[in-house]
Amino acid sequence: MKHFTSIGDASLHELTTVLDKAIELRSERRANKKNHPVLADKSIVMIFEKPSLRTRVSFEQAIYELGGHAIALGAAQVGLGKRESAADVARVLSGMVDGIVARVFEHQKLIDLAQYGSIPVINALSDHSFPCQALADCMTLMDEFGHDVAGRSLTYVGDANNVARSLAILCARLGVRFVIASPPQYSFDDQFINNLQAETSPALIERIEDPQAAVAEADAIYTDTWISMGQEDEAKKRAVAFEGFQVNADLLAAAPSHAIVMHCLPAYRGSEITDEVMEGPRSRVFTQAHNRLHGQKGLLAVLFNDDKLVA
Ligand code: CP
Ligand code: NVA
Repeated sequence: MKHFTSIGDASLHELTTVLDKAIELRSERRANKKNHPVLADKSIVMIFEKPSLRTRVSFEQAIYELGGHAIALGAAQVGLGKRESAADVARVLSGMVDGIVARVFEHQKLIDLAQYGSIPVINALSDHSFPCQALADCMTLMDEFGHDVAGRSLTYVGDANNVARSLAILCARLGVRFVIASPPQYSFDDQFINNLQAETSPALIERIEDPQAAVAEADAIYTDTWISMGQEDEAKKRAVAFEGFQVNADLLAAAPSHAIVMHCLPAYRGSEITDEVMEGPRSRVFTQAHNRLHGQKGLLAVLFNDDKLVA
């Protein structure tokens, strides 16, 4: 694995190696042991075109705990694609630092950074996908249901967005059935479903419009905002379309009693999820957020120490 711009950049073996490494590094940290400094003498630039709490802090802390140096740059400082093309930024940074973490609007910018530079590029969220979030989410499933999550079922209620896209692919690859309940115009298109079914198995991804029916066999219920960063102009239209797709006590009542609730955060309480569910005993949203730190560490350790960790 040279880059991590999408789940597809990594083989199943590499993905499970990352997850296992993340769990191992988390155990060391919990035992108050220092992790091996795999990033010693390495610097990583982080470019954020959009706001961030979890991703920014978890990457900076992960780089610090692995012995590296993080340089964070805001959108205005870099002007990716405006002041300078992503291709030129990539070639400049490749001669100065060891890796790039980037949160961007257009996914193409990540592809350009990876294509024109010679250092690893990590997708810290684009309009298209968010593979780092999927790593932490699958760690959270493993925490709850045991390391082998194959055969489990996750129902995603809401917008088929960047978070949903990466999570669906990682779940299906791990053998977790991914059911999506969305208004049809905000669901995955046929091509996405067909490709993922062809790559994994037809049973591992399904669209069910009715949220109550969709959660009937769920081990986990997942939601995210209906209005992703950059879609603020569509807020009114989306609020209308997603009426009835809220994760609330009524929806939980239609799910198995052991089903947990997940959200990548930030949450818009009262829209896609209620306060009651966020604060309820089935919510794992803060475990998920904490797993972002460990997930980034597993990813960084594998990307920057590839030869030793990946067969
Ligand atoms: N879930 C997540 O990535 O949060 P931030 O946007 O705060 O980084
Ligand atoms: N889908 C959301 C995720 C935020 C972490 C967004 O892109 O804004």
